[in-house]
Amino acid sequence: MIELVTSQINKYIEQLHDERVVELFSQIPSGKMLRSKLILQIAPFKEAVKLAAVVELIHMASLLHDDVIDEADLRRGRPSINATFGNKPAIMLGDILYSKAFYELSSLPSPLPQIISNAVTLLSLGELLDVELSRSFNPDIDRYMDMIYKKTASLIEASAMAAATIAGKDAQRYGLYGKNLGLAFQIVDDILDITQDEATLGKPAMSDLKEGKTTLPFIYLYEALEEPDRKRLLKLFKKELSRDEKLWLEERLQSTGSLNLAKEKATKLGEEALACLDEKDEKLRSIMTQLIDRTY
Ligand code: FPP
Ligand code: MG
Repeated sequence: MIELVTSQINKYIEQLHDERVVELFSQIPSGKMLRSKLILQIAPFKEAVKLAAVVELIHMASLLHDDVIDEADLRRGRPSINATFGNKPAIMLGDILYSKAFYELSSLPSPLPQIISNAVTLLSLGELLDVELSRSFNPDIDRYMDMIYKKTASLIEASAMAAATIAGKDAQRYGLYGKNLGLAFQIVDDILDITQDEATLGKPAMSDLKEGKTTLPFIYLYEALEEPDRKRLLKLFKKELSRDEKLWLEERLQSTGSLNLAKEKATKLGEEALACLDEKDEKLRSIMTQLIDRTY
């Protein structure tokens, strides 16, 4: 059924009647389509295909803008659109995908447009918060959790709620599943930045701290360290790291148990997501477990 989503997206792109857009769009590497899988699992019906295609377009648009904001040259192991074509086409392609998605969203039955558009506002607020938090090292877990809820979990939560609405299921319960899954997903992403290499990640490894992102493992590390190691950690914030500095960080993240604490937090959120499901929701359970155990 996921192929139906891909062809719906392609149909939406063709409807724009613009060769340049077709060319630029073809250069976006395809992702895991997590949100579509979730939607179709909760609502395995034809009506859900359009919803999934709209959500994927919104997600792609947000990543196009995010790569400009983060000045990222790589996305999923390939040069990002901004790296290949420049910031302006990347921003405009994002706007085109985003507005086409909203045009299509507006003809879906209520309350789907409200659920999804509200999440896009949260997504944008989350990105703004992410940019602001990256000005200086952020030792505050609550602010970090608020930011990842808005930036990542809100669209996953909304996808699950909208799909449950289509399927006549409990939107609040599935929404909570999506929210916890989204939070766990982002924390796993933050851990993988530290534990995996560039070839596996499809983007530079150990780059979050350099980009000014104080992710959960680094917040726990800050809490665990005593002066003068704390000072040393703060000095590495937003800095191009040498091999020795990376090794020092890796060792401290392991020996203080900070990386493990972050893994435990992701696992706990994963369990909370599973607790929202019925025993028979086997596929949704496995989406969750695959996500926690993934390496990229
Ligand atoms: C990736 O974060 C970014 C997001 C999940 C959300 C980005 C949202 C916006 C740019 C605002 C919404 C805009 C539109 C057009 C809908 P990351 O940088 O931590 O992850 P990465 O490593 O995958 O880049
Ligand atoms: Mg980014």
